[in-house]
Amino acid sequence: MKKLGSLFVLLLLLKITNIMAQDKAKVLVLIHSDNGGTYELAKEIAKGIESDKNATAIIKQVKTSQNQKLKDIPVATVEELPTYDGIAFGSPVYFGNISTGMSEFLSKTVNLWTNHSLEGMPATVFMSAGSGAGKELALQAFWNSLTVHGMVMVSNGIRGTESINKAIPQGNTVLGVTSMASLKDVERPTKDERNIAELQGKNFAKVALALKGTFAKKAISTIEKSVNFNETLKQKNIVLPQVPKPAGNYKPFVRSGNLVFINQVALKDGKILNPGKLGVDVNEQQVKDATRATMLNVLSVLNEAVGGDLSKVKQCVQLTGIFNTKDDYTKHADLMNIASDLTVEVFGDKGKHARATLGASSIPVNSSVEIQAIFELE
Ligand SMILES: Cc1cc2nc3c(=O)[nH]c(=O)nc-3n(C[C@H](O)[C@H](O)[C@H](O)COP(=O)(O)O)c2cc1C
Repeated sequence: MKKLGSLFVLLLLLKITNIMAQDKAKVLVLIHSDNGGTYELAKEIAKGIESDKNATAIIKQVKTSQNQKLKDIPVATVEELPTYDGIAFGSPVYFGNISTGMSEFLSKTVNLWTNHSLEGMPATVFMSAGSGAGKELALQAFWNSLTVHGMVMVSNGIRGTESINKAIPQGNTVLGVTSMASLKDVERPTKDERNIAELQGKNFAKVALALKGTFAKKAISTIEKSVNFNETLKQKNIVLPQVPKPAGNYKPFVRSGNLVFINQVALKDGKILNPGKLGVDVNEQQVKDATRATMLNVLSVLNEAVGGDLSKVKQCVQLTGIFNTKDDYTKHADLMNIASDLTVEVFGDKGKHARATLGASSIPVNSSVEIQAIFELE
């Protein structure tokens, strides 16, 4: 009986904690950053938001970054934007405008726009500049895009300027805080820029809480939702191997624009699976098994290229299968079907690709197969 009583109290406490968490304003701090300046401001904005005990801040970025300071920041999806109570947008100033990375992300929000999904949601903006030339134009450009979405723009006024050190250039603006990273008189963001960012976050949390529940969070089902291919892998029990390390002066993948280029051989658990020439050292089934292992390596590298979010894959563009065969062998297509079928199994229609197959008299490290892959990302 006593145990039952304790269990009831525990459940009640869990329920109350849950309700309290639900009541908090959930604010996304969404950034693009090349060198980390915008991220520094984002952390202050988030600190300011969380100084209000009724608000939580989540920092995410619009795309993966190879920069050590930024590579662990999660990447936001377009579809998750309507689930927040407010969004603080941050980016570098590019030619008096928002950065290309931020612009590319916003250009993918057409479905949200036509569904009025962000209408009435509060937004605020902040930016990292170089010299600061064109910083207000850039902040204004942010406003242009976000007001087209019908977001409620929260300015920063002259917040925090009473105590600002006026002897040095500072990134205070009425539209939102900035920093001027290339002015090296003091560490950037300056102490005052950090302070203004924190105050901006604090004020934004207040507005987000006040507006919470006043705008409809449009159900994501009404929006064209991207498929979670990582979930598909789990459901189909397809386990991606560790990303094979490059054996020379090259990278596992290269991204050029929206295309990712990947080449792999049949490395499995540190050694080549079923090595050798088809018809001499290995049979067709063994080469098929090696082909699957090779394609899994390709997918593993692809997963790294998209920062662990395979929903960013727009299309498998082309697969090329090279097989170590005798001169008179002609059934390369049967072998390659293993890789093609696996790709379609994971990505559905987005996995359907153009394809080439060919035979070779030898393949590096005596692999029986090599696959070259090109994927297009969102
Ligand atoms: C393509 C490009 C254009 C830029 N244009 C401007 C500009 O118009 N004004 C400015 O002050 N800084 C400009 N910068 C400098 C960046 O805004 C600055 O380095 C910023 O601090 C980068 O932010 P991050 O550290 O978050 O990457 C530009 C940088 C690049 C790459």
